Amino acid sequence: MIIEPRMRGFICLTSHPDGCAQSVKNQIEYIKSKGDINGAKKVLVIGASTGFGLSSRITAAFGSNAATIGVFFEKPPTVGRPGSPGWYNSAAFENEASKAGLYAKSINGDAFSNEIKKQTLDLIKSDLGQIDLIIYSLASPVRLHPVTGVLHRSVLKPIGQKFTNKTVDFHTGIVSEVSIEPCTEEDITNTIAVMGGEDWAMWIDALKAENLLAEGASTVAYSYIGPSLTEAVYRKGTIGQAKDHLEATAFEITDSLKSIGGKAFVSVNKALVTQASSAIPVIPLYISLLYKIMKEEGIHEGCIEQIQRLFQERLYTGNEIPTDEKGRIRIDDWEMRPDVQEKVAALWKLATTETLPEIGDLIGYKKDFLNLFGFEFEGVDYAAEANEMVAVSSIV
Ligand code: NAI
Ligand code: NA
Repeated sequence: MIIEPRMRGFICLTSHPDGCAQSVKNQIEYIKSKGDINGAKKVLVIGASTGFGLSSRITAAFGSNAATIGVFFEKPPTVGRPGSPGWYNSAAFENEASKAGLYAKSINGDAFSNEIKKQTLDLIKSDLGQIDLIIYSLASPVRLHPVTGVLHRSVLKPIGQKFTNKTVDFHTGIVSEVSIEPCTEEDITNTIAVMGGEDWAMWIDALKAENLLAEGASTVAYSYIGPSLTEAVYRKGTIGQAKDHLEATAFEITDSLKSIGGKAFVSVNKALVTQASSAIPVIPLYISLLYKIMKEEGIHEGCIEQIQRLFQERLYTGNEIPTDEKGRIRIDDWEMRPDVQEKVAALWKLATTETLPEIGDLIGYKKDFLNLFGFEFEGVDYAAEANEMVAVSSIV
């Protein structure tokens, strides 16, 4: 069938298999162009199908020849209806890995559940023995708690007071004011339950209990800080509470891994267009201004550039891993450069529907957004019939 983007609100309902495959190939080429990374050889990526998790899997596999197991929650295609982009990304990744002689298998299901954890542990036991790196890169709006059975929903709200600021609808380019009512106490608890560190710790505990962690194994989860502009709705809002919890959990996991000399890290990454971040009010306007400045300065990065730098210049230099005063790895260093932030803050004041096309990178934002779904890639013939029924046997 011929597949075109079909938008509904902040999501795109369709995705293009060939475009997703192109995106994966481009990322693989980038990693190969940067040379070998002396990294982990047996890697589990939880949240492996899109965004930072997919880039982490690609970096491990094609930078260090690692065997990878990916866990994600994606929709396979059915006749006449494309699958989700993460499904196509993973299918493409597995095909490329297999061509390169690299072990790659994936488990498609709810990573928060006991069943998917058990299935993953069984696969590690039978195929890899022990894991030496676990990347934790889930972004989800809900979590069904495996012990209590409670369905938690995360929210993106300010705490204590109403937040009002500018935002942009990146489809129409209209800049408007948005107000978000403060959250309830329950919202905070729920958001921490979904996006905090409890599930990360559960994964590591389960792996450790079954002796599936190699001596010196490490684990990395991803966090975000961002500027004061977005603080009220992000870092000091409900999601920020969850990130605080995630960051605190890193220390608990490190303690629990003492006996095997293992360590847990949080890496603070740059703001990027992903399915998760497009849904957060205010962030798209910030990103479109940030992109403009970072591109002008020649320091713009996407997920793959960020993760390549994380692996090569932070995790696997052979020296101690550099962290900030709170023990976090920082690859948001270029985003947070004072000169970059000053310029973004100045543009923020000027941003209106009329000025944004000039002062912001709305075009770049839109392209990145469409790229998430496999659209607007060079080298893909979008007028041609696509085969949406891509088949891969290594995804279960
Ligand atoms: P994403 O939406 O691209 O990826 C989320 C991944 O989680 C996908 O592989 C998806 O299949 C998987 N997933 C979601 N629910 C699942 C479930 N129940 N079971 C199994 N898999 C599930 O998100 P993105 O942006 O890559 O986020 C990953 C992490 O990076 C998050 O912790 C996010 O907060 C963090 N981060 C994101 C930034 C951004 O600007 N996008 C910036 C800094 C950190
Ligand atoms: Na991810």
